[in-house]
Amino acid sequence: MYILLMGPPGAGKGTQAERLIEEYKIPHISTGDMFRAAVKQGTELGKEAKRYMDAGGLVPDAVTIGIVREGLAKPECAKGFILDGFPRTDEQAVALDDILNGLGIKMTGVINIVVPDADLVSRVTGRRICKNCGATYHVIYNPSKVDGVCDKCGGTLYQRDDDKEETVKNRLNAYHSQTVPLIEYYKQKGVYEEINGKQDIDKVYADVKSALESRM
Ligand code: AP5
Ligand code: MG
Ligand code: ZN
Repeated sequence: MYILLMGPPGAGKGTQAERLIEEYKIPHISTGDMFRAAVKQGTELGKEAKRYMDAGGLVPDAVTIGIVREGLAKPECAKGFILDGFPRTDEQAVALDDILNGLGIKMTGVINIVVPDADLVSRVTGRRICKNCGATYHVIYNPSKVDGVCDKCGGTLYQRDDDKEETVKNRLNAYHSQTVPLIEYYKQKGVYEEINGKQDIDKVYADVKSALESRM
């Protein structure tokens, strides 16, 4: 299963990816997670990425394409993967085609999780993430059993630096101007599937799964 998850900030890409990983036992390649890991480690990549992420803009294509190329070349991706948040620009989409051609891989489906902008700010500002295992919660829509503590591993929950209201607005602008055009690109390739992301998490997952399985 070669899955691409698209959607605006807060649409639920990471949340759905967590379930897909368990179901299909395939690796999750999230460029956002990779950048956040690099920021935490204090690498040069992290320092560069942080400047763009804090402003809610996109990290330059050359950098982003490089890390995905490296990630997809790993043997554990040969049987399947979930790409989350990549590609986000025309240049990234063209580069991805090139990478997949080189690996002899055909995408199973491009899943776009659609949620209206009006719902996204509260989703993002209420998000909490486990420091230890990365599980995602929401203070209202998907709370942990004990406030601030991960259900799965007991780790401490934190808020992402870019999950502030002002930054979310910039992230939404970047999404509309640079990423939305890819919808047409994937429609023309015949791999595009649209999912209503404004439903509860289980229902979204059921729709994602059936869209993918109908394409196998
Ligand atoms: P990234 O980490 O990818 O952020 P994003 O695209 O803004 O998406 P999010 O992770 O915020 O949202 P999500 O869709 O994963 O939602 P989640 O499941 O967590 O990128 C961060 C930054 O890195 C970018 O701004 C950019 O700077 C850089 N970057 C990354 N990729 C790049 C690229 N390719 N090129 C250039 N730069 C790049 O859910 C959100 C919240 O809602 C959670 O609290 C969750 O519990 C809740 N929730 C989920 N589903 C539902 C539901 N159905 N109903 C109610 N609540 C829900
Ligand atoms: Mg995410
Ligand atoms: Zn945890």
